[in-house]
Amino acid sequence: MQKKISVIGAGNVGATTAQLIAEKNLADVVLYDIVEGIPQGKALDIQEACPLWQSDAVVRGSNDFKDTAGSDIVVMTAGLARKPGMRRDDLLQANANIIRTVADNIKQTSPEAIVIVVTNPMDAMAQLMQKVTGFPHQRVIGMGGVLDSARMRSFIVMETGASPSDVQAIVLGGHGDLMVPVAGATTVNGKCITGLLPDSKVAAIIDRTKNGGAEIVSLLKTGSAYYAPAASTVEMIENILGSKRDILPCSVYLNGEYGINGVYSGVPVRLSLNGLEEIVKIELTGEEKEALNRSAEAVRELMRKIGA
Ligand code: LAC
Repeated sequence: MQKKISVIGAGNVGATTAQLIAEKNLADVVLYDIVEGIPQGKALDIQEACPLWQSDAVVRGSNDFKDTAGSDIVVMTAGLARKPGMRRDDLLQANANIIRTVADNIKQTSPEAIVIVVTNPMDAMAQLMQKVTGFPHQRVIGMGGVLDSARMRSFIVMETGASPSDVQAIVLGGHGDLMVPVAGATTVNGKCITGLLPDSKVAAIIDRTKNGGAEIVSLLKTGSAYYAPAASTVEMIENILGSKRDILPCSVYLNGEYGINGVYSGVPVRLSLNGLEEIVKIELTGEEKEALNRSAEAVRELMRKIGA
């Protein structure tokens, strides 16, 4: 039987995620939104593309949360997006309220689901989602590091002309201003970029990665990125479903790993049908460990602000 994936929020990230799931024939999709007509219209449009993709995915749009019942995976994208000049943290209170409502619904309708949280500020929203659903920590995972790492890989490709498949990059920590691009784990054909590019170029790539989301917001003016965020979410889905077996940086609940306790932050993981399968340990410099800690503390501070 096809798996069922519900995508909450039929905005740009949600609809593009639904499109990629259907295009790759990964699962049947329910696209849910509170705005009438939008999820139905976008879902029908995607469904009509399926014959061209040779996909037999069933794609439905709905304003009724009950239609998401029994999902294997729920992708949470609903919420406000940044406008130019805004930080992800500026969305905190408004999006926390949306997360609380959706989490209550998921708990009722898809109690066995794995939940991927995309809504910003993502790490805090993933932690809130886990808290309100009461799901095991392994089943609530945040999408941020896959996107940040993909951005870093793109910037390295632009700089070196290397093939994207030969470029590896890893960005840890929260999906926010304090994210931690790990230069030592970033390679072109297995060679570390710190030996390949001058320090100033490495610093510029790291800086552009940290500001990758804001760069798109400042260009679009009316919204934030969605192609790469959706592709990153689908990368996680393919790893959960088992068609890919990668080490991906994702936001998960840390229980002493990397010296961090009781908070969601981005670390390298393996995913499976259990959700989080394993947290993978990689070597970090002292400076990177400190940066990771600072980033986790910022998430803790956001949780305090929303009283969770
Ligand atoms: C970004 C948003 C999705 O980084 O957080 O583009």
